[in-house]
Amino acid sequence: MGVIDVHSHILYGVDDGAGRLEETGQMLQEAKKAGVSLIIATPHLYATDANVAGMQRVYSRVCEAFSDYGIELRRGFECNYRVLLDEKAETLLSYRIQGTDVLLLEPPRQYLPESWEPSINALQRLGIEIVIAHPERCLAVQEDISVAERMLEIGCELQVSAGSLYESMFSKTRKCALEMLKEGYISYIASDAHCVADYKVYAKALKQYGHMVQPDGLLKKLQTRQGERA
Ligand SMILES: [Fe+2]
Repeated sequence: MGVIDVHSHILYGVDDGAGRLEETGQMLQEAKKAGVSLIIATPHLYATDANVAGMQRVYSRVCEAFSDYGIELRRGFECNYRVLLDEKAETLLSYRIQGTDVLLLEPPRQYLPESWEPSINALQRLGIEIVIAHPERCLAVQEDISVAERMLEIGCELQVSAGSLYESMFSKTRKCALEMLKEGYISYIASDAHCVADYKVYAKALKQYGHMVQPDGLLKKLQTRQGERA
């Protein structure tokens, strides 16, 4: 059973991740070396008028082109908090990770708006489970770890990005990511890969910190199902 990478910008030409189909292929190869068997492709989603149909087309093309690479792909989104605040909860149902009730939610870089929790609660009432992408990059979490604790209390899971763990030793992001790992708050270390080199960093992070993630994350059930099919 391999690693599940829950956050990756592996789809080419849809955001600031892979630029071309070839680069997507190289990222897949590097991911395989890191022991990854399942990647959730999560292009940035900053607004619901984004070209979601175009992203879906690229996803289908990538699945077809690399079907023999031995890595399963699923379509998701890195759904920015502004989409959460601006749209009705029902609209966000279509941004769940394919085959799951899980939504990857990117928090603000600074502070959480007042409507943060009510908006999350509205999604949860529809049966959506929330994974928070890189909370270590959110200033509110860096300044006060209890903000991360509150995210857990209201039923969210937390995902640290591999790159955060290798920022400079004075980085607040790095310090925050390490603290959350140490406290056992993190369910996933993800690549959040935008290029091939990011999967080398991911391999290093999995080796060094992989044992510190919580073993029973929602999305890890996908791995089990995948293992059962193999
Ligand atoms: Fe990302």
